[in-house]
Amino acid sequence: MKICVLTETRAGERRVALVPDIVAKLVAEGWELVIERGAGAAANFPDDAYVAAGATLAQSATAALEGAAVIAKVNAPTAEEAAMFPKGSLCMSFLQPGQSVDALKVLAANDVTAVSFDLLPRISRAQSMDALSSQATVSGYRAALSGAEYQTKFFPLIMTAAGTVPPAKVLVMGVGVAGLRAIATARSLGAVVRAYDVRAAAKEEAESLGAQFVDLGVSAEGTGGYARELTQEEQAAQQAALAAEVAASDVVITTAAVPGRKAPILVTTAAIEAMAPGAVVIDMAADGGGNCEPTIAGEVIRVNHALVVGMTNPPSQMPTHASFLFARNVYNLLALFGKAGEVAPDWNDEVVTATAVVRHGTASTQAFAELLGIPVAVAAEIEESVEGGAA
Ligand code: NAI
Repeated sequence: MKICVLTETRAGERRVALVPDIVAKLVAEGWELVIERGAGAAANFPDDAYVAAGATLAQSATAALEGAAVIAKVNAPTAEEAAMFPKGSLCMSFLQPGQSVDALKVLAANDVTAVSFDLLPRISRAQSMDALSSQATVSGYRAALSGAEYQTKFFPLIMTAAGTVPPAKVLVMGVGVAGLRAIATARSLGAVVRAYDVRAAAKEEAESLGAQFVDLGVSAEGTGGYARELTQEEQAAQQAALAAEVAASDVVITTAAVPGRKAPILVTTAAIEAMAPGAVVIDMAADGGGNCEPTIAGEVIRVNHALVVGMTNPPSQMPTHASFLFARNVYNLLALFGKAGEVAPDWNDEVVTATAVVRHGTASTQAFAELLGIPVAVAAEIEESVEGGAA
């Protein structure tokens, strides 16, 4: 059966879903690999590396999709792209179902099984498939480097004959996967790092990487290891308490997110206005609305003396290793949906049922069924269609 890799069409996207060494592994397992010409070029994986790994090249997306059983993508397909996917195929990508309703309706109508990396359960067994984590690792690293780049001061303590330079003070807000990587990177550059989160577990994790934890006494544990949304009063109290921390920092990196919701505002315009000349704020949550009041996604703006950087699609800024990790996530998740070159999902596996948003024209949950206006899948129907030979 054929797996196809398309060139990403999202503006500014430089990642690719599969890289040559993973292509070679899939070819060895019996899959046929077709790569749209130039798909890996922006991530520094040239066409000839894919050919050397055993893939064939297609001149266009339409040619690559011809007869494809599996489509590997980074970003959600558009409705137009989805309409080109072969009937009964399996598509694996980030989908953010709430933002891909049109495409998902087309996929459901076309009997495509749409697998979303966003929906992977955060369980130990699924860690090797967890593309949210792998890409957040890249984002956190990139955010810390960006802070160092925009700052006009050193990060490390430097003692010279001319004088001693004190270390930069970096504040990381949101200590999930990205925040932890930002802490580790800023620490390795020599900064003094403080970190803040609303989950109790974050304190120990931040401290283990050498950060000092800012404890405001607000706890907002949600389900599945995530944070819950704060009430308006809690948010206002948090913003007020954080203002002094922000004002005392050379670099602030914000990464806070609550699944399915707009990013929480942690830093007000007033707090940034109180920062010292040369201060830098890196808002890694800009794509989700931003953690800072004045953030504009994709822009670097000046607020009084400070620069506010609204990062968009940070993993795409380090496309080689972002793709390297994403490809491994695809390979590991695909193993649950097919073996030895054949698509054969194990519908008894909770990872398979959780990630397959639509299959055989049905939705995995009642909420998705209502969102898409299609029936909800019931176990018996899935078994029946699998026995009937569908993907
Ligand atoms: P995320 O990207 O959803 O959010 C980033 C961080 O923002 C989180 O630490 C969250 O607590 C924090 N946050 C949310 N609202 C905030 C607020 N108002 N103020 C301050 N901070 C706020 O988080 P991510 O990186 O996806 O991690 C979420 C959890 O999942 C963590 O506990 C992480 O350790 C866990 N995890 C578990 C995995 C597994 O077991 N397979 C894999 C990856 C993460």
